[in-house]
Amino acid sequence: MKVVSVVGNRPQFIKAAPLAAALAAVADHVLVHTGQHYDAELSQIFFDELGLAPPDHEIEAGSGSHAGQTAAMLTGLEPVLTAERPDVVLVYGDTNSTLAGALVAAKLRLRLGHVESGLRSFDRAMPEEVNRVVADVVSDLRFCPSETAVRNLTAEGITDGVHLVGDVMVDVARTFAPAARRSDVLERLDLEPGGYALVTVHRQSNTSPEAMPALVAVLEAIDRPAVFPIHPRTRGALEAAGLLGRAEAAATLTPPLGYLEFTALLLSAAVCLTDSGGVQKEAYLHRVPCITLRDTSEWVETIELGWNRLTGGLDATAAAVALAGLVRPDAHPPLYGDGDASARIAEVVAAAPLASWPP
Ligand code: UD1
Ligand code: UDP
Repeated sequence: MKVVSVVGNRPQFIKAAPLAAALAAVADHVLVHTGQHYDAELSQIFFDELGLAPPDHEIEAGSGSHAGQTAAMLTGLEPVLTAERPDVVLVYGDTNSTLAGALVAAKLRLRLGHVESGLRSFDRAMPEEVNRVVADVVSDLRFCPSETAVRNLTAEGITDGVHLVGDVMVDVARTFAPAARRSDVLERLDLEPGGYALVTVHRQSNTSPEAMPALVAVLEAIDRPAVFPIHPRTRGALEAAGLLGRAEAAATLTPPLGYLEFTALLLSAAVCLTDSGGVQKEAYLHRVPCITLRDTSEWVETIELGWNRLTGGLDATAAAVALAGLVRPDAHPPLYGDGDASARIAEVVAAAPLASWPP
């Protein structure tokens, strides 16, 4: 059996790492990198740290408008998937790389699996919502991380090929938390365990130059030291708005970090302020209260349990209120599985029929 994984962004390298290990036992696993993320700190570092083999194919789509970037991936992926003739194609999450991989596989009539299927923010203004809805519709195997995700698919009439397997990021967190704990990043950044806030911001709606005064106001509203590993897009917007200096005065800005250093910072943070999907979930896994700088979340269970609060976007007043009322609820059920999601996905993939060519 041959399985092709299409990846291109930071969180996808992280999600593919445990799956590559699990799939090695049942299939020839081919990794295709779309090139959506290309800076070493958004790409290569995850291959180095998490033991992911180098990509077999690199599309080098790079940055661009949604249409331009997705088009470059589509035209790059089609000949690769045609030549590889996989039995199953896997796409991950909700980025433009997910969308491109899903569309090419579906048009070639290849069996398609969507890892992290069924998540919804119900906000079509988010490019990620469009990507995940399309990927779910055209998939054959839908690997859901949570019961909520299964319910979302059911509500859309999607019940075939739905597998509740848990979240592969739990697998990664369990495997790599011990190595993260050995990191010296707190000492290097002069941070006290439990004494600081960890911030990440990269979402399209929060990274226009016009949004930067509100971002700086949020940083200035944080009532303790703050560390902010900053995405290049966000740094660029702060520079364009002439507000990088004020951001640097309010928080310790670092380049994007590798998974181990970032996880080390998360494990010892008093609170996390983020607009990331994956970081909300990891904050829950590591029992760190989270303040989500958005008006919606796909990880609604963390909000219902009180571990996560929405501010309605980059709203300094709402962030200050949330910081003043931080809680660590007693209830902490295993919402996203037990760390065996990759093994369960590999089991389902291995049971899929082999493709006949031409399909
Ligand atoms: C993308 C995904 C988002 C995901 C995130 C994970 C889409 C639409 N967005 O957002 O869902 O949460 O990845 O981190 O797919 N840039 C660099 N170096 C790089 C890559 C990007 O400097 O290696 C800069 C470029 O100026 C680029 C901008 O960041 O235009 C945005 O990159 P892009 O990949 O389009 O979106 P992300 O914000 O990274
Ligand atoms: N992450 C990282 N370094 C950072 C910021 C985040 O390794 O500087 C990891 C984080 O632990 C999580 C993933 O990147 O596993 C989340 O990716 P991101 O926030 O870029 O995307 P999203 O999850 O929102 O799609």
